[in-house]
Amino acid sequence: MRPTDNTVAVVGTGYVGLTTGACLAQLGSTVTCVDIDVDKIERLRLGHLPIVEAGLAEIVRDMSAAGRLHFSTDPTESVSGADVVFLCVPTPQDDDGSADLSYVEAAAASIGPALKTGAVVVNKSTVPVGSFHVVSDALDRTDVDVVSNPEFLREGTAVHDFLNPDRVVIGAESDAAAAAVRALYESLDTEFILTDPASAETIKYAANGFLAMKVSFVNSVAAMCEQVGADISSVVAGIGSDHRIGSEFLKPGPGWGGSCFPKDSRALVAIAADHGYDFSLMRGVIDINEQQYERMVHKIISALGLFEHDRLSGRVVGALGLTFKAGTDDLRESPSLRILDELRRHGAAVQAYDPTTTGELNAVQRDRLAGYEVRGTAIDAATGADAVVVLTEWPEFEELDLGKIADVMRGDTLVDCRNLLDPGEVRAAGLDYDGVGRR
Ligand code: UDX
Repeated sequence: MRPTDNTVAVVGTGYVGLTTGACLAQLGSTVTCVDIDVDKIERLRLGHLPIVEAGLAEIVRDMSAAGRLHFSTDPTESVSGADVVFLCVPTPQDDDGSADLSYVEAAAASIGPALKTGAVVVNKSTVPVGSFHVVSDALDRTDVDVVSNPEFLREGTAVHDFLNPDRVVIGAESDAAAAAVRALYESLDTEFILTDPASAETIKYAANGFLAMKVSFVNSVAAMCEQVGADISSVVAGIGSDHRIGSEFLKPGPGWGGSCFPKDSRALVAIAADHGYDFSLMRGVIDINEQQYERMVHKIISALGLFEHDRLSGRVVGALGLTFKAGTDDLRESPSLRILDELRRHGAAVQAYDPTTTGELNAVQRDRLAGYEVRGTAIDAATGADAVVVLTEWPEFEELDLGKIADVMRGDTLVDCRNLLDPGEVRAAGLDYDGVGRR
């Protein structure tokens, strides 16, 4: 993409911030990514990324070499020349679903005095509807516009999603501010939805809530299939071909997780409640997801030949997959870990393998996986196991040497929580098979 004369600063270099900064540079802007974490910025300057994300390292390398992507620990200096400043800082959540806006407020307050007149501050952090004003107040600048530009990228395909969006949503109170943000994306062949800030903030929650609803729906239908003797793959093929329904986001699994769906669905319920509306449908979507984790635990317990209230002491589970989905190293709200934590609580020993935990574990992995026995290969995880459980849909699990798995196991059951394997092939290897909603 040809360089433009747009100058951008991105505050926060997490999944969203780093992808936004690198991809906006790719689209032509000159971008400075700022973070208070000195070590992270030093490593980024050397081309070492803190996250696993397909294609991102290449863009960071190329754009840094082209002089369009810079890294800094100094917010004041970084934002002072910027036309547009993106806030991409975390918004952690309390147990009741309400968002902690202290990082967003602190970031806005720290850059406020340094912004040039006419600059536009874009909030990409997912914030409760109406938080637009929180950012404006913290900036304390009447000559600066605040715009909401929610992000829809998925982990694992973040770069692709950023550069090939279905739409770009811009919520602004002034046309000039909306135009300044739109200019950054102008080279994309996409639809622009220009709206007010509250609608833009609502779009983000509603999109994630709807997608979570699709997955909860299909998981419920899968549970029903098991009772009535139907097959979920045929049912999904049958309903997904109706273009009003669509075939995406209808893969049954162990339940949804990650950094967005759980947080955003709880927030949707909390925001609605704050405004006097009981969003009972969304509460149901969340309940069904919690039940899905439990259903998987029960499946595994019965695969071990035991009952719900039995202790699992002495039983060994070989777990394949720890991340919340394939293509990412993110363990946040991972269904795999929810399920395995519960099995461990019942007394089972878990031997786990995930392609992203084969080397030295980073601090987050060490912390979250404390007490887990992390193994270096799928075969190692299966060795001596009473049951093997597929929890994340990593493509390499489709290529498992099932005969070898059967040989090294102590038991003879495989539970496939992602419907990834061919039941016939698993049975041919001498193992019992149980999937989700499969006949
Ligand atoms: C999601 C949204 O898709 C994205 O637009 C938003 O910006 C952030 O949240 P992400 O969290 O990266 O992205 O994961 P996604 O691919 O959407 O999957 C979410 C969860 O649903 C995962 O646990 C996944 O395994 C599960 N899922 C998804 C299913 O179980 N079945 C499906 O058919 C799709």
